[in-house]
Amino acid sequence: MSLTNNIVLIGFMASGKSSIGRLLAQKTDRYFIDSDNLIESFLNKKISDIFETNGEEYFRQKEQHCLDWMVESLKNSVISTGGGMPIYSNGIKKLGKVVFLNADFEVIKKRLENDKESNRPLIKDLSLTKAIYDQRVLKYNSLADIAVDANQSMQDILQQIENS
Ligand code: S3P
Repeated sequence: MSLTNNIVLIGFMASGKSSIGRLLAQKTDRYFIDSDNLIESFLNKKISDIFETNGEEYFRQKEQHCLDWMVESLKNSVISTGGGMPIYSNGIKKLGKVVFLNADFEVIKKRLENDKESNRPLIKDLSLTKAIYDQRVLKYNSLADIAVDANQSMQDILQQIENS
């Protein structure tokens, strides 16, 4: 375990980072932090509005600032990261133990189709989403201290993380 004692959840959109993160934080007596929520509160704007009014590049700069801030500021936390943070920002491994929630695209696709309300800016066309997924999985794996099978039930996923 790193000095910060943080657990950093990475993975594609809808891989379960926030739901697992909340439960894991409760079970391991850590704070729960969601990087998208932090960026929204820094800028007082929803992620979808940031993409719409300022563009993706601006969002990625803010994501890097958010990561740098978390590295400086957080310990004893479970951190759920936006799906692009480990892809576009540098330094994720300085934040703590990196856990990749590895869910199959079919599972993710079903969750995204059932979660129309979340308004994720990068989910306009699911065939493009699959191409992004394929590229990112390689990077997530290369950054991870551990990868867990996230196609399973919440309890099984939590168990895999706790046993690691
Ligand atoms: C993004 C994932 C989103 C959010 C933004 C961009 C991405 O977070 O940060 O819409 O590039 O994969 P979630 O992974 O929590 O959906």
